[in-house]
Amino acid sequence: MKKIGFTETVLRDANQSQIATRLPFDKFEPILETMNKAGYYSVECWGGATFDSCLRFLGEDPWERLRKIRQKMPDTKLQMLLRGQNLLGYKHYPDDVVRKFIQRSVANGIDIIRIFDALNDTRNIQVAVEETVKCGAMASGAISYTTSPVHSIENYAKLVKEMEEMGVSSICIKDMAGVLTPHEAYELVKAIKETVKLPVVVHTHCTAGMAYMTLLKSIEAGADVIDTAISCFSGGTSQPSTETLYFALQQLGYDTGLESVLLKDIKDFFLPIRNEYIEKGTLDPIALTTDADCLNYQVPGGMLSNLISQLKSLNAMDRFNEVLEETPKVRADLGYPPLVTPMSQMVGVQATQNVLLGERYKNIGKEVKAYVRGEYGRAPGKIDKDVAKKVLGDEKPIKGRFADTLEPEFDKVKAQLGDTARCDEDVLSYIAFPQVAEKFFAERKEKEQRRVKFSIERID
Ligand code: CO
Repeated sequence: MKKIGFTETVLRDANQSQIATRLPFDKFEPILETMNKAGYYSVECWGGATFDSCLRFLGEDPWERLRKIRQKMPDTKLQMLLRGQNLLGYKHYPDDVVRKFIQRSVANGIDIIRIFDALNDTRNIQVAVEETVKCGAMASGAISYTTSPVHSIENYAKLVKEMEEMGVSSICIKDMAGVLTPHEAYELVKAIKETVKLPVVVHTHCTAGMAYMTLLKSIEAGADVIDTAISCFSGGTSQPSTETLYFALQQLGYDTGLESVLLKDIKDFFLPIRNEYIEKGTLDPIALTTDADCLNYQVPGGMLSNLISQLKSLNAMDRFNEVLEETPKVRADLGYPPLVTPMSQMVGVQATQNVLLGERYKNIGKEVKAYVRGEYGRAPGKIDKDVAKKVLGDEKPIKGRFADTLEPEFDKVKAQLGDTARCDEDVLSYIAFPQVAEKFFAERKEKEQRRVKFSIERID
């Protein structure tokens, strides 16, 4: 009986896609022991936006959250998402920081690190993969999936071959936009399986309504692991439902390894939490429905909602259709980057400016300039001549890996922080999100002083 592993995403991607990563640890703590026994291949619980959100909105130390999850889930593989040389932020970090971040992540409890680069430039994931393997954890090499005239099954096959040579333990097809169709998934999984001898993981979103069909066809083509979310946090902008796929696959003769009684307990636990977020307005019903527009425009759902809020704030919603039409043109001009963070933001902002300023590339964003200079890595296709000329003039884009131009940073920042940082984890939080971490450290201190004062009063 073929085994299909399940990666549960409720603590990370479902939380991020549906409720803007606002789930505090205290809310899900009581269910962790049950989740530990449910038979998941892994639980995605860290990385992505969770780190930033803990520090910025929840007043939680992300490292402490990870240690607490580890303690309650000793038997389940804990997984995180990492954007290669960008770690969890938006810029490239020097290698010493990337290595230290991975060492501390593994030491604090991570078993699997899913590593991707927005441009599928393997030079940007190399150090992260190497360090993960060195630390004894599993590196999962992820393809940022997109379609364009310069993306093909042959390119993706070449990419996974390179990842295999780097030492990854599995290959993940990361369809962040939910645009992977059942047919494409079948062909791609088959091609990957013919190219490398590694388990294939498929990650997609329900945004466009394709995901259940896509996962089933992936499995028919030989996929080994799928990403799903417990049903009350599934669908819409999130992943397909864990229980639904469990029932469907079990009947088709697959071994899922899951305990359905426990899945029911997990769902019953999260249901009132989901309802509470709907009531508060954090969970917008739009995030629960199907929106096939992203198939027409090839613009990810999350990017559509960003464009709308951006235009609303500029009082320019009447230009929405023009911006939508401009977006794929900008993407083409930039050599068809996959529309994933940070490229999705860059392309969206540039398209908006091109329309609102009445002249294309009248103003070019700082990040787009850096991208054209090659600071984010290799563009998948050719960058439009005129755009390149406008940015570069007579200069040439950089040839090598951008991180090679960066000085080591960890020890310097550690010395500079002094007492403010209590451990290496604090230093890493600061390097990742300086202002946010600084504020968090100050509030943490204040809270502790209040607590001390309180206990003294009680003794008196
Ligand atoms: Co995702």
